[in-house]
Amino acid sequence: MRSCGREAERTWVDRFLAALPSDARVLDLGCGVGVPILTNLVARGCRAVGVDFSRSCLREARALCPGAALVRADLAEVEFAPAAFDAAIAFDSIWHVPRQEHARVFARLRTWLGERASFLLTLAAASETEGEIFTDLIGAPIYYDAQPKAQSLHLLRASGFRIVDHHLEPVSDARPSTGHLIILAEAA
Ligand SMILES: C[S@@+](CC[C@H](N)C(=O)[O-])C[C@H]1O[C@@H](n2cnc3c(N)ncnc32)[C@H](O)[C@@H]1O
Repeated sequence: MRSCGREAERTWVDRFLAALPSDARVLDLGCGVGVPILTNLVARGCRAVGVDFSRSCLREARALCPGAALVRADLAEVEFAPAAFDAAIAFDSIWHVPRQEHARVFARLRTWLGERASFLLTLAAASETEGEIFTDLIGAPIYYDAQPKAQSLHLLRASGFRIVDHHLEPVSDARPSTGHLIILAEAA
């Protein structure tokens, strides 16, 4: 469950982490086993909260990252207090949620963040005609959903975020608008 292995992705995570105050309250939505993101947050002195609905991932995260608070919940349903966090990250997790729910996920997250809080996320970018897929990754079909980059950026803006920067890593040269989309946003 390591998704930050590629150098380009690590650079974005490092940029997000470097801008955080040392005692920042940081939410990691879809934290997986907690490595490398949660462990990195805790090592920097952040008060990290990881959310994941996978019992087995959280069991590993508990062992690998004992300093983080862990919540087993659906990231589309979990509840937190208003302005409970100074920053949030959702790396390779929201693409497992149907795209029709993304606006609601972003809008709810916005209420849990303070003013100017950073939000680093990845999504899958698709062409106008593509969307849900199931990919057999680990012997079971894994659900992904995707939508055009412009639509994801629009949903974030409409949910109260400013887009600071973004990068689309295309799947192939033949499909330049389809691929792994990394977005750094800020609570507006
Ligand atoms: C590809 S892993 C990424 C883990 C971690 N963010 C990272 O970058 O290493 C996706 C994670 O999202 C979690 N996930 C997917 N859908 C979720 C949902 N609706 N609610 C909570 N967690 C979810 C999965 O259980 C999995 O741990």
